[in-house]
Amino acid sequence: MKKIAVKILKGFGIVLLLLMILAGGVYYKSVNYNMYDLQANKKLLTEPLSEDGYAKLAEDLVAQMTLEEKIDQMYGEKMYKAPKLGIGFLLRNRFPHVYAGENERLHIPPWVLSDGPRGARVLDKDVFSVTTFPVGMARGASWDIDLEERINEVIAIEMRANKVNYAATPCINLLRHPGWGRAQETYGEDPWHLGEFGVAAVKGIEKHNVMACPKHFALNSIENSRFVIDVDLDERTLREVYLPHFKKTIQKGKPASIMSAYNKVLGEYAANNKYLLTDILREEWGFEGFVTSDWFFGTRDGLGSVKAGLDVEMPFQQVYKYDVLEKGIEDGEITESDIDKIVKRTLGTRLKYAFSGDEDSYGHDRIETPQHVDLAREAAEKSMVLIKNENILPYGSETGQKVLVLGRLANMENTGDFGSSNSTSRNIVTPFEGIETYNKALGNQVELYDGPDEAVASNKAVDADKVIVIVGYTQLDEGEYLAGEGDMKKSAEAGKLVGKKGVGGDREDLRLLPEDEALIKAVSEKNNNVVVVYVGGSAINMNAWEDQVSGILFAWYSGMQGGNALANVLYGDVNPSGKLPFSIARNDDDYPFFNPYTFKIEYGYYHGYTLFDKKNIDVAYPFGYGLSYTTYSYDNLQVEEVSLSKEGVLKASVDLGNQGEVAGEEIVQLYIGFKNSSVDRPVKLLRAFDKVLLMPGELKTVALEVVIEDLAWYDPEIKEWKIEEMEYELFVGSSSNKENLIEASFIVK
Ligand code: BGC
Repeated sequence: MKKIAVKILKGFGIVLLLLMILAGGVYYKSVNYNMYDLQANKKLLTEPLSEDGYAKLAEDLVAQMTLEEKIDQMYGEKMYKAPKLGIGFLLRNRFPHVYAGENERLHIPPWVLSDGPRGARVLDKDVFSVTTFPVGMARGASWDIDLEERINEVIAIEMRANKVNYAATPCINLLRHPGWGRAQETYGEDPWHLGEFGVAAVKGIEKHNVMACPKHFALNSIENSRFVIDVDLDERTLREVYLPHFKKTIQKGKPASIMSAYNKVLGEYAANNKYLLTDILREEWGFEGFVTSDWFFGTRDGLGSVKAGLDVEMPFQQVYKYDVLEKGIEDGEITESDIDKIVKRTLGTRLKYAFSGDEDSYGHDRIETPQHVDLAREAAEKSMVLIKNENILPYGSETGQKVLVLGRLANMENTGDFGSSNSTSRNIVTPFEGIETYNKALGNQVELYDGPDEAVASNKAVDADKVIVIVGYTQLDEGEYLAGEGDMKKSAEAGKLVGKKGVGGDREDLRLLPEDEALIKAVSEKNNNVVVVYVGGSAINMNAWEDQVSGILFAWYSGMQGGNALANVLYGDVNPSGKLPFSIARNDDDYPFFNPYTFKIEYGYYHGYTLFDKKNIDVAYPFGYGLSYTTYSYDNLQVEEVSLSKEGVLKASVDLGNQGEVAGEEIVQLYIGFKNSSVDRPVKLLRAFDKVLLMPGELKTVALEVVIEDLAWYDPEIKEWKIEEMEYELFVGSSSNKENLIEASFIVK
């Protein structure tokens, strides 16, 4: 007996040892993989080519490839490299480099992928920290296109320094409902505003020969059922509401690539959706780059994807398998020239980047430089939205004060989701740290209480001069939903969550967590000077407590410099200038129907401000709303030509004045009204905006333009865009609320 037991134990020991050696080997491989030079091997080409030259080169290369080599261009990495992703993620909270499409025989370098909506995601061997910016939604609230371009340029530089040349960013899905878990990654609810940000992001990324990849094409606006949900909608809604931002980003930004979504659209998975990937994207919009799939569960059917126009499946070879595609060719389902077409357009695009004459050097010294960190602070400062201010902000520079900082999140390094959009700086300034540093210089005492007991918090608040409560969410409450397809299916079958909820995901309750609401309530009973700072990625319902506090500031997930930016805004060194890139409803039922656990959903024509306008529903805070420490006046709205042709450009101007004592940046918004339309149309739509800096007392005439073509509606009967001949209203002002807009009109004939 004893002998047998010893033998079994020995056996176990050996197996365990072997497993450990194997795990060690995989780990070693994962973190010490080869680094490739992104620049192409000179044997392939010595001179940069003209635009057409790359297409020709791709053609020549494809002609020299075996079918297997061609298929090797159509996926990320071999399946056996899968563990490196898991290990990189679990052990180092970072993604390893994913190399796609290397062909040593033909000297073709790989392309190397990183995520990056708020900073580089893939880090080089010796890099542990990168510049981490505020999330996309925060930047959307800045309404600052130039800033967005600068931010993305920095992200691209840091990616290049980390040996990456493909950025899975920007996320430009539309915020249809504030509960969407990945709201923080996109820019807002309005297709026009989204499109402007998409273009700016792509331009910034591509300045450094990094291939941008807007995502997720299309209709990915619910998270918890993303692998199973089918989005149904009519043609007008698709064309006028859910696609315009993609179209603009593709046509004006000209990204190298685009990523298909996980979900189904009109009954077909996006990666198999010929209507989206070929008919609309390539044939109508003229996209010339390559389409990649979303990762892991993004592809379902190899032959279907070839037919639909999906070029590369990511990150592994799951459906673009040799046997599947070879059999498809044998059976006549697809042809080898379908494969050639795919490989040519991928190679033709990516070789252009690999061979570019980019003279810049991208060493590690270009990562998290003082200038990049400053930009992260500037972005956070320009994004914060002042929602309520009853004569409390900005704080003065009094000394000898007791400043109390409260809330679970007050001293937490909390830059947003831990999923694919995560970015890791080791130098994050928390809200408390920012406020403390600022006050130390003033000679004030700052106390932190981030414990759970609201009685302790409210006792401390009794004699505090200033009380700042930091509330909101973390990656546990919202973000990418880390759960498998099986769990999503089960929940969708039940129409509600079944089993344990995954991490992150959609928010089913738009109120703050009960402990946050209880804290605000308890503290505001003891102190009249409470300012609430909200950290999160989308709208919240504030009905339960907003009347009880003196100030509310939306700080968002504000990046590595968020704490310093917060102090600068609270104390008035920076005048808040952000405005909401979404509407906040008074009642949750006013938003469109939203169910995170379902197989099917219909997206209607109206959401956000177009819905609230149409139904005449009073909102808590309108789209485009945000306060400042000064007040602005709008006068003298002028239209240069009142009567325009369909090919014309409307030129409007308005006198904008700063009536206060401090300088400020105002976001001027222009909406077009359609009350004379013969079809059902929104009351108004945003068609231009500008962020304008004014000194105290300064008056500026602000010019805004609208291309008349952008007023068209999509007629599904004849499948064409139509510009109506009629009188249009023109609204210009400080938010989408009627009361904040002045009006004029013009005619198109
Ligand atoms: C996300 C994408 C991301 C990809 C790679 C997916 O789960 O939906 O946005 O780019 O992972 O990390």
